[in-house]
This record gives sequence, C-alpha cells and structure tokens, in this order.
Amino acid sequence: MALSRGSPLLPVFLTGLLWAVKLGSSPWAASGLSKFDDVIQPSWASDHVIYDGDLLLLKLDNFSGSGFASKNKYLYGKATADIKLVPGDSAGTVTAFYMSSEGASHNEFDFEFLGNRSGEPYLVQTNLYINGVGNREQRMDLWFDPAADFHSYSILWNPRQVVFLVDGTPVRVYQNNNNSSSSNNNSSSNGNSTSSGSSIPPFPTNQPMGVYSSIWNADDWATEGGRVKTDWGHAPFVAAYREVRIDGCEWGPAAGDSDDAGELRRCSESAWGKEGRYWWKEKAMEELTVHQSHQLAWARAHHLVYDYCADPARFPVAPPECTTATP
Ligand SMILES: *[C@@H]1O[C@H](CO)[C@@H](O)[C@H](O)[C@H]1NC(C)=O
Ligand SMILES: *[C@@H]1O[C@H](CO)[C@@H](O)[C@H](O)[C@H]1NC(C)=O
Ligand SMILES: *[C@@H]1O[C@H](CO)[C@@H](O)[C@H](O)[C@H]1NC(C)=O
Ligand SMILES: *[C@@H]1O[C@H](CO)[C@@H](O)[C@H](O)[C@H]1NC(C)=O
Ligand SMILES: *[C@@H]1O[C@H](CO)[C@@H](O)[C@H](O)[C@H]1NC(C)=O
Ligand SMILES: *[C@@H]1O[C@H](CO)[C@@H](O)[C@H](O)[C@H]1NC(C)=O
Ligand SMILES: *[C@@H]1O[C@H](CO)[C@@H](O)[C@H](O)[C@H]1NC(C)=O
Repeated sequence: MALSRGSPLLPVFLTGLLWAVKLGSSPWAASGLSKFDDVIQPSWASDHVIYDGDLLLLKLDNFSGSGFASKNKYLYGKATADIKLVPGDSAGTVTAFYMSSEGASHNEFDFEFLGNRSGEPYLVQTNLYINGVGNREQRMDLWFDPAADFHSYSILWNPRQVVFLVDGTPVRVYQNNNNSSSSNNNSSSNGNSTSSGSSIPPFPTNQPMGVYSSIWNADDWATEGGRVKTDWGHAPFVAAYREVRIDGCEWGPAAGDSDDAGELRRCSESAWGKEGRYWWKEKAMEELTVHQSHQLAWARAHHLVYDYCADPARFPVAPPECTTATP
C-alpha cells in the first residue's frame, strides 16, 4: 500500500543543506531579530523561509520546498507550532511538523498535513519511527478548517508516552509498554525489531531529537493516494507559523560540557535542570487525565479515517504495539 511518503524526512533535510550551501548567504541573517531566532533556524532553502511581520512563512514553488530546524536537540519535552496551513488548492503538498533523532536507528514522531483541492478536507497523518522503522501511520480529518486560521499542534515526549495534540486535544498516544510481556525488554538486544515483528521495540529513551518543519511536493502519494497532482498554477504554496515553542531538556554543548552519558542522566533523572523544572516528565504527564482520555476517544471516534493497527491487508498479523490499549 502506497501509504507513506516513501522515505523518511531526513533526506529532505539533507537536500535542504545542499541548497543552503549553493545559495551562500542567508536572507535570514539580514532580516534582523525575530522571536523565532531563539528556537529555530532555516534548514532548507532559506530564500523560501520568509518573515512576514510576526509570522514565519514556509514557501513551496516549483523551484523548491523549504524548512526549518530547532537550534538545539532535546531529550524529552513538548514542541508546539501554531500553524495556518496552505489555503485554497493545496493538493499534492505536504506540510510536516516533527521531531527526529539522527542515524540509521533514528526515532521520529511526525505530524504530516496532507493537502487537498479547494474545499476538500486536509488529512492529518501521524507516524512514529522507532529504531529506524516506521509504518505506524494513522490519519484523521479535523473538526475545523486548518487553513482558515492558526491552530496549535504539539508533540509531548516523556519516558512514559508520546502524545500528539491538536489545540490541546490528544489525537494519538503511543505508550511505553516496555514492561508488557510482548515487549522487547532485553536490554542487551539491539532492539532491531520491525513493527510487524513479534515484539514491541524499546520505547525511545536515549536519542536526543531535533524539532523540524517543512513543506514539499508529495503529489506522488499525498492526495487521494497520488491521484490528484499539484497544480503549479496555484504556487506558491505557503504555510504560516505564528509561534514555535519548545520546552525540553536541551542536549549537548549548549547545555553544558558533559558527555552523552552525562546528558542522558541529566535529562532522564532530574526533575530540575538548567532549563528549569522538567514539567513534561512529572507524574501528571505520565498518562492522560480522565478528561483527556475522553477527548482522545471522541477525536478517534469521529475523525479517525485510517489506522495501521486495523489494516489486515497490510499487516495480516497486527503489529505488537497495537494489542495494547492505546497504540
Ligand atoms: C522501561 O522504561 C523506563 C522508563 O519509563 C525505564 O526506566 C526502564 O528501565 C525501562 N525498562 C526496561 C526493561 O527497558
Ligand atoms: C517498568 O518497571 C520498572 C520496574 O518496576 C519501573 O521502574 C518502570 O517505571 C516501569 N516502566 C514503565 C514504562 O511502566
Ligand atoms: C521481559 O521479557 C520476558 C520474555 O522475554 C517476559 O517474560 C518478562 O515478563 C518481561 N519482563 C517485564 C518486566 O516485562
Ligand atoms: C538477551 O539478548 C541476548 C542477545 O540478543 C541474549 O544472548 C540473551 O540470552 C538474552 N537474555 C534474555 C534474558 O533473554
Ligand atoms: C537490523 O535488521 C536489518 C534487517 O534484518 C539488518 O539489515 C540490520 O543490519 C540490523 N541492524 C542491526 C543494528 O542489527
Ligand atoms: C481529499 O478529499 C477527498 C474528497 O473529499 C477525500 O477523499 C480525501 O481523503 C481528502 N484528503 C486527502 C489527503 O486525499
Ligand atoms: C514554474 O511555475 C511558473 C508559474 O506557474 C511557470 O511559469 C514556470 O514555467 C514553471 N517552471 C518550471 C520549471 O516548471
């Protein structure tokens, strides 16, 4: 099933680096101070990353897409972007907001907004890569028009769960099931299981992640499975950002001079750090509140349109994490 975008988002990011080198000077530097500068920087086609008053715009035309990346990496935290998606005809385009670590065994938590023809609904695809393996797509439509105004999209990551939220409403939870009997809890194994394998891969707990956003042409799969192509006559396609907030334990040199093991300890164990209180790891954040559980159930009952956990044509045996309460 040609469901996913075909390749992880990282190659897009690398393509962006090449562009940045080719283009040489960055208009970003010349554009003066911005509230965005503290947190993120252009990472792909900086000439397509535009300040417009209080907003940051990512532009896609038939020359290039564009993207930004956080300046820091984080071990646990919450990342939120207030985004107004491409209005009008956005068919063929994908705007993504995601967290990702690096390397072949990377972890990645994705929001991907799949554009559509004018008047037809966007779909929000979420996915998780764990140890380099994805194929965990879920898709929802939304209870509002995401191109009409700004809405907040958040990813919360702590040792117990990854939660995807839309305007504060949880739409997906991936729990740490590393104590369940089907979990790959053997710490000396390499955790190299696939999502269709027999054991749940170890929950992401030790690779720091950056926060990224990008827009690109994906008309080979994004809209109605690739049947609807991008109409370049409607370019440029522009996604607008009002705010990008990241609360997390900053990893690496920016946070001090300790080594990776030290950073792992610092970000995993302490309730307080250089960044202040690690509220995203507190007891109250370890699971949804009763109210949030109801919100999640409502969102899934009314808006879920695809779930890899319920796709026997693709997974004759449901992936192991799907047998737990809230994959
Ligand atoms: C399970 O995850 C917790 C973090 O919530 C970690 O402390 C623990 O060591 C993990 N257990 C195993 C067996 O991996
Ligand atoms: C797994 O069990 C260990 C030992 O009881 C506990 O410390 C840890 O928090 C548990 N992890 C999760 C995710 O439940
Ligand atoms: C660890 O995995 C074994 C099987 O390999 C299982 O019997 C055991 O219950 C698991 N331990 C925990 C704490 O979940
Ligand atoms: C854990 O995995 C290693 C290597 O994969 C294996 O040698 C060892 O027997 C396993 N231990 C348990 C308790 O399953
Ligand atoms: C994981 O499995 C794949 C496919 O079986 C293999 O190519 C790869 O080398 C493995 N990775 C590790 C770290 O063992
Ligand atoms: C686009 O609109 C069509 C028709 O309403 C719908 O079937 C489809 O799910 C929508 N979204 C995408 C991304 O194709
Ligand atoms: C890009 O789009 C513009 C405007 O629609 C068009 O004039 C131009 O020919 C296109 N260029 C390419 C390389 O497709």
